[in-house]
Amino acid sequence: MATIKFYKSEEQVPLEMHKVRVVQKLSLPTVEERVKKINEAGNNTFLLQNRDVYMDMLTDSGVNAMSDNQVAAMFQADDSYAGSETCNRLMKVLKEVFGTDYFLPAHQGRACENILAEAFVKPGDVVPMNFHFTTTKAHITRKGGSVVELITSKGLVPQSDEPFKGNFDIPALEKLIEEVGADHVPFVRIEAGTNLIGGQPLSMENMLQVAAVCKKNGILCVLDASLLQDNLYFIKTREEACKDMSIRDIMRTISENMDLIYFSSRKLGFARGGAIISNNEKLIIKMKEFIPLYEGFLTYGGMEVRSMEAMAVGLLETLDEEVICQGPMFIEHLVKELDAYGVPMILPAGGLGAHINAMEFLKDMPQSQFPAGSLAVALYIAGGIRGMERGTLSEQRDPDGSEHFSEMELVRLACPRRVFTLSQIKYCADRVKWVYDNRHLIGGLKWVEEPSTLRFFFGRLAPIGDWQEKLAAKFREDFGDSL
Ligand SMILES: Cc1ncc(COP(=O)(O)O)c(C=O)c1O
Repeated sequence: MATIKFYKSEEQVPLEMHKVRVVQKLSLPTVEERVKKINEAGNNTFLLQNRDVYMDMLTDSGVNAMSDNQVAAMFQADDSYAGSETCNRLMKVLKEVFGTDYFLPAHQGRACENILAEAFVKPGDVVPMNFHFTTTKAHITRKGGSVVELITSKGLVPQSDEPFKGNFDIPALEKLIEEVGADHVPFVRIEAGTNLIGGQPLSMENMLQVAAVCKKNGILCVLDASLLQDNLYFIKTREEACKDMSIRDIMRTISENMDLIYFSSRKLGFARGGAIISNNEKLIIKMKEFIPLYEGFLTYGGMEVRSMEAMAVGLLETLDEEVICQGPMFIEHLVKELDAYGVPMILPAGGLGAHINAMEFLKDMPQSQFPAGSLAVALYIAGGIRGMERGTLSEQRDPDGSEHFSEMELVRLACPRRVFTLSQIKYCADRVKWVYDNRHLIGGLKWVEEPSTLRFFFGRLAPIGDWQEKLAAKFREDFGDSL
């Protein structure tokens, strides 16, 4: 990719390789209103109304900006139930991008996971993966299986210069297969990159090693490609052996080595929907019957046809390095600025968003008071910034009912692709710095309503003590009448 240098600038800033043509008006309630709103939302950023949020950094899922070509393609969607031209067009693109012949549609990523779990997971099975994702684990455990995380120890070191912290520990994978027996491992799942531990990528070399171990043991190798877009960019820019490969070649090399690939197109392809793809017809036949049962007919699988058109164009755009560099470059800018100020960030910057290490940010807070959840609330109060807790609240309780403390307590500030301008990123950095300087004011949270599954989505919490009012009062003192 051509680097654009600045003539006179103190710092190198990422340059948008697109311009804005459709906008959405934003508003920012006052700090006192923000305290009220977050409490109405049960101190859970998922339950905030978008009209009360200035920067929506909750997720990159389904909120990426579409290109003009994607929007244009949506007009030609073919609504036919059977034999839809939209489906044919999407299949052609999937073949071109991944080289795969077979495609099963699903309404989003977790729907693909449901189908995979239905078709392959039996009680007592073990599914190794570099790291789990919430919905993946829920589907596997629901079928009586369990998840074993085999990330290398480097992956859980919050700050390092390790370029591929999402890598599998290959000897540990081999050992696990030997211990439990290949018959009890329905598939190995590669998550590229890792959502819950900072969007950290895997190297292509590591993915191919995992595929080789699977092949040797007659186990399916499944790639969750939901976050592959950023991972492709990191492979191209961080992996010496791949620096002269095109994004298309990297994509093809990876996909040729996988038995099954699935993805959420709310992320990959800047659209909505999901897909399972493969070159193995037998595997597809095993899953096929579940699509009409749970999703919809095989031509759309619960997706809106216009989304399928947008997905097709978006997947082609994913092969363009000038397109896929945008997310990682903006994230890196935010991470570097906060790191330079002393805010404990996950380093190096990964994909998806900037990740704050809440365990370090709120050093004295016990995990039982949910440091990442508390910090996410404080950031909303300070700046109308909606991040996402990726820590203990996002875990499931252990089978004996005890709280399962997560390995990391992170607040994710997602950077939906092509959505925020640099001044908004600067505003976000400014408010995080203020919260950092006032971190002694932040207190914990306690459960008020705790759902038994995927509790982080709609669980409700309350602050322990009156720390939120104190934080708002300090905001007024420091910022006067500023919003
Ligand atoms: C790695 C990964 N896999 C699967 C999913 C589930 O996708 P969806 O939200 O479309 O159900 C996500 C969503 O965030 C994800 O990040």
